[in-house]
Amino acid sequence: MDNQPQKDMWNGRAGASWVRHNSLLEELLSEPGRRCMELFSLPSSAQILDVGCGCGNQTLDWASQLDPSCKITGVDISEPMLALAEDLKSANQSSLQADVSFVLGDASDALFPEASFDAIYSRFGVMFFADPTAAFATLLSSLKPGGQLGFVCWQSPALNPFFTAPMLAALNVLPPPPPAKPGAPGPFGLSEKERTERVLSKAGFREINVEPLKLELSAGASRSFDELFQELIQIGPAAALIAESDPTLAEQARTAVYEKLTEFYSPGSGVEFDANFWLVSARR
Ligand SMILES: C[S@@+](CC[C@H](N)C(=O)[O-])C[C@H]1O[C@@H](n2cnc3c(N)ncnc32)[C@H](O)[C@@H]1O
Repeated sequence: MDNQPQKDMWNGRAGASWVRHNSLLEELLSEPGRRCMELFSLPSSAQILDVGCGCGNQTLDWASQLDPSCKITGVDISEPMLALAEDLKSANQSSLQADVSFVLGDASDALFPEASFDAIYSRFGVMFFADPTAAFATLLSSLKPGGQLGFVCWQSPALNPFFTAPMLAALNVLPPPPPAKPGAPGPFGLSEKERTERVLSKAGFREINVEPLKLELSAGASRSFDELFQELIQIGPAAALIAESDPTLAEQARTAVYEKLTEFYSPGSGVEFDANFWLVSARR
C-alpha cells in the first residue's frame, strides 16, 4: 500500500503546520474528539489504540481520564508531530493516570500483534489510507474479538466552511488544483457515508454505525482577527495551494482569504464555523 505521499506530507509542510498551530487546532477540534470518546464502552484495564494521533492531545486526554490499569498507544507517521506528543506527555505527566506510549509507524502496516486492543479510536486520523479496506482490515485484526472501533471524520467539503471558505476565496485569484478523486486520501477521504459503511464491512467489521454530528467550531475568543488570521492562513488545503503559488498571486489570494474570513469573526467570540462530521462506530 503506498502511503508515501501522506508520509511526505505529514513529515513536511502539513506536520510542521499542525505542530506550530497545535493550540489553535486543539481549541477548534477538541469537541468532536470528545464526542467520539463518548462512543466507547470500555472494559476494565482497557488497551486502546489512537490511530493518527498526531501531536497526541487526544491520547493524553484519554490517559488523564482512564484509570491506571489502562494503557493507550498513539500511532502516527509524522515524526515532528510525535515529537510534540512526547513533549506534551512530559509536560503533563502529573495529570496522566493510564500508561501512554507513542509509536512511529504506518497504522495500515501490521504493527501490533493480533487481538491487542479493546478499542481503536481516531480523531481525523483514518482518512489518509491509500487502500482504506486493507488498512481497516489490518486494524480489525489488532482488535480483540468484540473490540470497538470509533472515529470522527469530516462530512463533505460543501458542509464545512472551515475548509471551503478560504479555498473558494483563494480560487478567485489562483488557478484551481487538479480535482481530487472522490475518496482520495485526505481530510474528505471518508466523507461519503455509504462508502465508509462499505469499506468497514469489506474489512470485516460488524455493527457498523455512521451518525451525523453537527457542531460549531470556535476559537480565539480573546484574540484579534489579525492574530487569528496569521494562524488560519497557514492551515488546511488553501494554505497548501497558496504556498505553492507565484508570490504575487499568493499575496492577492491571502488578501481574498483575509476578507472572506472576517465574515466568520466577531470580537469577543473569535472565529466560528458551522461544521459537519461523521461519528463512526463498529465492532470486530
Ligand atoms: C488531521 S491529522 C489529525 C491528528 C490528530 N488525530 C488530531 O486530531 O489532532 C491526521 C494525522 O494522521 C496521521 N496519519 C496519516 N496517515 C497515517 C497512517 N497511514 N498511519 C498513521 N498515521 C497517519 C498524520 O500524520 C496526522 O498526524
